[in-house]
Amino acid sequence: MGNSTISGLVGWRSPSNIALVKYWGKYGSQLPRNPSISFTLSQAFTETIIQYESIDYAQDQIQIDFYFEGKPNEAFKLRIESFLNDNIESFPFLRHLHLSVESRNSFPHSSGIASSASSMSALCLCIASLSRLQSDKDTGSEDFLRRASSISRLASGSACRSVYPEVAAWGHTTFIEHSHDEYAVPITGLHENYRDYHDDILIISVDEKSVSSTAGHKLMDTNPFADQRYAQAKANMGDMYAALLSGDTHELGRLMESEALTLHALMMCSDPSFILMKANTLQVIEKIRQYRQDTGQALYFTLDAGPNVHLLYPHSISSDVSLFVNSELRPLCQDQKIIHDRIGQGPVQIKSFSL
Ligand code: DP6
Repeated sequence: MGNSTISGLVGWRSPSNIALVKYWGKYGSQLPRNPSISFTLSQAFTETIIQYESIDYAQDQIQIDFYFEGKPNEAFKLRIESFLNDNIESFPFLRHLHLSVESRNSFPHSSGIASSASSMSALCLCIASLSRLQSDKDTGSEDFLRRASSISRLASGSACRSVYPEVAAWGHTTFIEHSHDEYAVPITGLHENYRDYHDDILIISVDEKSVSSTAGHKLMDTNPFADQRYAQAKANMGDMYAALLSGDTHELGRLMESEALTLHALMMCSDPSFILMKANTLQVIEKIRQYRQDTGQALYFTLDAGPNVHLLYPHSISSDVSLFVNSELRPLCQDQKIIHDRIGQGPVQIKSFSL
């Protein structure tokens, strides 16, 4: 970067995403055992701003300043430093920069919703921006997002899908052109039935997860059903992709529920075994299925590796669903808490915090 000091700021707001076909099981440098596909969300997001300044020597170990919601946060700082140091060959220019990173979430940290997809994609988009500053040529937005996705994958697998609007797929599948294990790709041609699609996140419990995703992925290495699961996910990618293009919201919901319950079943039959649902998770699921039977409406759920329930449905039925959710499901949530999210348009570059 020459002898004179160069300094500046890069910033990104990046959303969370909800997987429809689940990534569960990985190997090597964060490569997925099976492909996955997700809706990008809009309301649950992280904003990250990095102030950088060049230094005139090469750091052996990257050290950063890190502030979460305005306060220094040692745990997050260490996690980011070890990610940067473990992958330093991917962004060697960081040896010549001092970084001061500040990050904020649109949702409370202890709200029970996974934040690694939004936080890691926001951070990695900033790193991709820094990388672009180092090179003379503007590589264009497609290349940029692909690089940001690839860096995000190294930080947290699911984060690599958050860099695209609406729907993204990660992992090679014969059904989706250009799909790749090292980065996610955007899905185009999403049917209009999914425009403004809702995701109400029912907070059944804000407690820390009983098993981290990293430990959960690891359990797949010895799970007796792992091979069947990977084959099932590969087949589901084709059917899910078809449902996204055709607008068949019932088919999407059927596959999505099966994916969620399979994920939980895999954790139940792992060694050691984990039951990640709570009693109220099951009650909510039963009520959703009853509602569907009574109304025929396309109201379906999915779950991540925890007790909270994502309720997905088309905008056209949202007033009916809202009545049902408020009377039947809200009382089963911790402190009656629900986060109302929607399918979203992906990350945006920022110069200052909006939060
Ligand atoms: C159940 O992306 O959190 O949400 O790569 O170890 O950071 P790491 O795991 P992570 O796993 C997410 C798993 C999931 C399903 C999904 O998002 O596909």
